[in-house]
Amino acid sequence: MSAILLAITGWDAKAWDARLRARAPDRDIRLWPERVGDPATIAYACAWKPPHGLLATFPSLKAIFSLGAGVDFLMDDATLPHVPVVRVVDPDLTMRMSEYVALHVLMFHRRQRRYDAQQRQGVWRDHDQPAAADVAVGVMGLGVMGRDAVDVLKRLGFQVAGWSRTPRTIAGVTTFHGAAGLDAFLARSEILICLLPATPATEAILNIGLLRKLKRDGALGGACLINAGRGALQVDSDIVAALDEGSLAAATLDVFPTEPLPKESPLWGHPRVTITPHNAASSVPHALVDYVLNQITRYERGEPLENVVDRTAGY
Ligand code: NDP
Ligand code: OXD
Repeated sequence: MSAILLAITGWDAKAWDARLRARAPDRDIRLWPERVGDPATIAYACAWKPPHGLLATFPSLKAIFSLGAGVDFLMDDATLPHVPVVRVVDPDLTMRMSEYVALHVLMFHRRQRRYDAQQRQGVWRDHDQPAAADVAVGVMGLGVMGRDAVDVLKRLGFQVAGWSRTPRTIAGVTTFHGAAGLDAFLARSEILICLLPATPATEAILNIGLLRKLKRDGALGGACLINAGRGALQVDSDIVAALDEGSLAAATLDVFPTEPLPKESPLWGHPRVTITPHNAASSVPHALVDYVLNQITRYERGEPLENVVDRTAGY
């Protein structure tokens, strides 16, 4: 039978292996690098940051399943076999991202870092609190993650706008698209949330020029950034410069051009930066293995794979 290979770096591959074997006891499950077996018998690869060149060594591969929503690491592999690449689209992953977005938007909105500092000093002082309806939030990327985050933010009462590559219509949300729509989107956004994929077109998009265009005179009294998309989207030194010159009031960053974030990065100690270790929406085997197995079952029944990456759209 066609074997399924797990090729994972940076995550606990054993947990994926255990879950896959538990959910598909009759299938031939292989684990790179220790249990690969005959490369010619591997039909499916479930991958997270596999070494570039590895997947090209499996001549009978029929499909590659990215265990994360982002496929930039796979797409950067010049030797990636020309088989369908399926990415994860799953309510568990999407909900985790929306939780992250809601948490950090509210941290800015409710000025939680200021109250944390006051608590450390034993200070009991209330500050003016604008209504969510007076705060303009902008979401870059209106895909699976972006649209769900937009829904949650709308329910919290914020003025929500979104920006995408192609025109998108979402009830109750002002939408912008493309280079032509970017400046107007930024000019009305006090809290900017980036949920874009890393592609050649989005690389370093979060640079000083863009950050200076954000709305600074809104209800919050300064512009804030949340990047949970990819590190390649941001220029770390520009974020520090924007914070120091005042074009940014605060930033929450989950992703970085170099991960783990190097110890010497000034972001670590910056008083207005919140750092999380690329865990805004973690892929969890318990939630996602069934998604992959269902897709394989469908495929073997002759049905089309779902959420196949369009390699021509921006990569
Ligand atoms: P989707 O592919 O569903 O959506 C991507 C969105 O970005 C689309 O709206 C697309 O526009 C837009 N977009 C792409 N390129 C451009 C561009 N050049 N200009 C403007 N808009 C653009 O992806 P998901 O929502 O599922 O995921 C988004 C990203 O989130 C992933 O690629 C990954 O990098 C990141 N992620 C991070 C995680 C974390 O833990 N930090 C976890 C999971 C995902 P259009 O709609 O017009 O096509
Ligand atoms: C993803 C990620 O892309 O975890 O899913 O970053």
